[in-house]
Amino acid sequence: MTATTAIPFLPRISLPYVGSTIGRKVVMAVTGLVLFGFVLAHLVGNLTLYLGPEPINNYGRFLRTFLHGGGLWVARGGLLASAILHVWSATSLTLESWAARPVAYRRWKAKDSTYASRTMRWGGVILFAFIVFHLLHLTFGSVHPDFQPGDVYHNVVYGFQVWPVSLFYVVAMLLLGLHLDHGVWSMCQTLGLSHPRYKRWARAAARGFAVLIVVGNCSFPVAVLAGWVR
Ligand code: HEM
Repeated sequence: MTATTAIPFLPRISLPYVGSTIGRKVVMAVTGLVLFGFVLAHLVGNLTLYLGPEPINNYGRFLRTFLHGGGLWVARGGLLASAILHVWSATSLTLESWAARPVAYRRWKAKDSTYASRTMRWGGVILFAFIVFHLLHLTFGSVHPDFQPGDVYHNVVYGFQVWPVSLFYVVAMLLLGLHLDHGVWSMCQTLGLSHPRYKRWARAAARGFAVLIVVGNCSFPVAVLAGWVR
């Protein structure tokens, strides 16, 4: 097991445990858990859309004013640090596995892998592009047709009335679902939660959470386009 990583273009981590393969897997699992917790909490907050303009606008105001405005910045800092560490550990592990096998298999057959596990890398890249677009769309409003600062209900409803944008969200959410289906399961394995006795339950829980996130998040653009939320 290597104590440090020597991957070009990536910072060399010299903390013996963090730099090791298992250390980076733990970093990926723990930061994945933080990001997953955010996605789940974000979905619960967004569900207030179905209660009308007041509740979701109040929720947005609460986030912006929590701890005199400092709470949001603490959360943003934690999320950004988690996202950076998650991408760093994933990229360095990927480059290391490629470096270990410079010549491709002559005949490659998907044996123990699932479609979800095989889409982790490029799915992660598309999700990153989605997050950048999403921030420009609903946080900064620079790619929104009629952005009103503080009026979250208006921004979501008007934003999703543009069908190509809604379609992009739905595709991104399906990818997020695949990423979570495999990611939550891998996280359970890395953190030692895959005892043979509970393996089936851990697998089912990962799938259940992924479906919940996909159905919940896709419901917003669909509800707007169908005219159920206006
Ligand atoms: C269709 C599903 C989604 C909807 C309707 C939605 C809605 C929103 C809205 C309205 C905001 C702005 C909140 C405000 O200004 O008060 C926001 C911010 C944000 N969303 Fe989403 N979101 C969705 C999915 C996601 C997903 C899947 C992710 C991550 C993978 C995500 C990550 C973020 C982040 C990081 C912010 C910025 C928070 C901040 O720093 O202020 N969102 N979202």
